[in-house]
Amino acid sequence: MPALVLLGAQWGDEGKGKATDLLGGSVDYVVRYQGGNNAGHTVVVGDQKYALHLLPSGILSPGCTPVIGNGVVVDPSVLLSELSGLDERGVDTSKLLISGNAHLITPYHTTLDKVSERFLGKRKIGTTGRGIGPAYADKINRVGIRVQDLFDESILRQKVEAALDNKNQVLAKLYNRRAIAADQVVEELLGYADPLSGYVADTTLLLNNAIDQGQVVLFEGGQGTLLDVDHGTYPFVTSSNPTAGGACTGTGVGPTKINRVIGILKAYTTRVGAGPFPTELLDEDGEKLRTIGGERGVTTGRDRRCGWFDAVIARYATRVNGLTDFFLTKLDVLTGWERIPVCVAYEIDGKRVEELPYSQTDFHHAKPIYETLPGWSEDITQAKTFDELPKNAQKYVQALEEMSGAPISAIGVGPGRDETIQINSFL
Ligand code: GDP
Ligand code: IMO
Ligand code: MG
Repeated sequence: MPALVLLGAQWGDEGKGKATDLLGGSVDYVVRYQGGNNAGHTVVVGDQKYALHLLPSGILSPGCTPVIGNGVVVDPSVLLSELSGLDERGVDTSKLLISGNAHLITPYHTTLDKVSERFLGKRKIGTTGRGIGPAYADKINRVGIRVQDLFDESILRQKVEAALDNKNQVLAKLYNRRAIAADQVVEELLGYADPLSGYVADTTLLLNNAIDQGQVVLFEGGQGTLLDVDHGTYPFVTSSNPTAGGACTGTGVGPTKINRVIGILKAYTTRVGAGPFPTELLDEDGEKLRTIGGERGVTTGRDRRCGWFDAVIARYATRVNGLTDFFLTKLDVLTGWERIPVCVAYEIDGKRVEELPYSQTDFHHAKPIYETLPGWSEDITQAKTFDELPKNAQKYVQALEEMSGAPISAIGVGPGRDETIQINSFL
């Protein structure tokens, strides 16, 4: 089983960090393929809690080589501070590899992200303000700065000047902001060349060779399927492809080499930022899910919007990612509810709809049709096998599996590595 993708099946924060870390001990490489430090992946190892943003969660497993692929956008200042934070805690970060083709997030991207959001006012997307969208926009516009540019001062200067020519006009004339001096940006970026030089590698060659030699490579997605710029709830999305195809373009590994695609699926639903969310709860149940589930953003500290499980979304994630398995997380959070509603379809303009509508207007109007399942009150955090779960918890999992279109191969019953029920092996 040489290559597998692990990705978010909903709107992010499904527990990808925990799932990746769990597998990290058995894989040779963990590779981030898209996104940047908009991600917030919490990993709990024993009594230690780690919040990772840019680094692959495999960095916490000593035998594993963490890789930042070409599809990621790298804020070098965040990268270095994340590395030094881990070094201080005794985590070996020396194996990290970074693609020279990955694009950089520069100070002007972060500034543009924040001012453009402010400018949108009520129509804002609610981005993380980390410069993600503007950095990807420059990549597509072919005016981006790549990691490899850090090592050629003359090219770096030319590219920064070219990018700022246009951006300073926008900043000054549209947003009424001070222009950004190219010299200052170049100087800052050049300062990252030395500390990063030891990490830069031809990661595409290396990963393909590793797979050919039978080594195990895990591709770790950031964000989630519904935040995908092509397949998500556009425009309320991130600017990259968290869906399975992104693992190929974001690393240079072809789809024929990927054997398994695991969707991380929360036992209920959350979302951060603006955009449609059919099962959102604005009542006491929503507040209860937020409190018990600890649903507060790891990156921005914002409260996450919470709602019941949505099987329409899960089915959609199975379809657009070609999922082979689900890892169902946070089942323990649902302990204590007498009855648990699950959205099985939508009502749109009086009609029952089973699949995610492609029209954004329809999705905005979608009303959840619920089936209510019986809850359980027993503590499940110590359960190690499926049989140890209370009968109603078993039924809840089975019902979700039937509705979602792929087998549930693992169940999270707590944040720790060992608080997991493994049903089918992923490797
Ligand atoms: P990610 O962005 O997908 O990695 O998810 P986050 O780390 O942003 O959010 C998931 C949160 O749930 C983290 O605080 C995890 O420690 C926690 N978590 C993950 N799996 C479980 C689980 O099965 N049960 C509980 N109670 N917490 C979990
Ligand atoms: P992880 O990897 C949840 C959301 C933002 C916003 C939208 C666009 O922890 O699951 P961006 O800064 O990417 O341009 O913001 O996407 N968003 C996330 N929501 N989890 C994440 O990452 C997210 N990364 C971005 O809140 O709505
Ligand atoms: Mg997160």
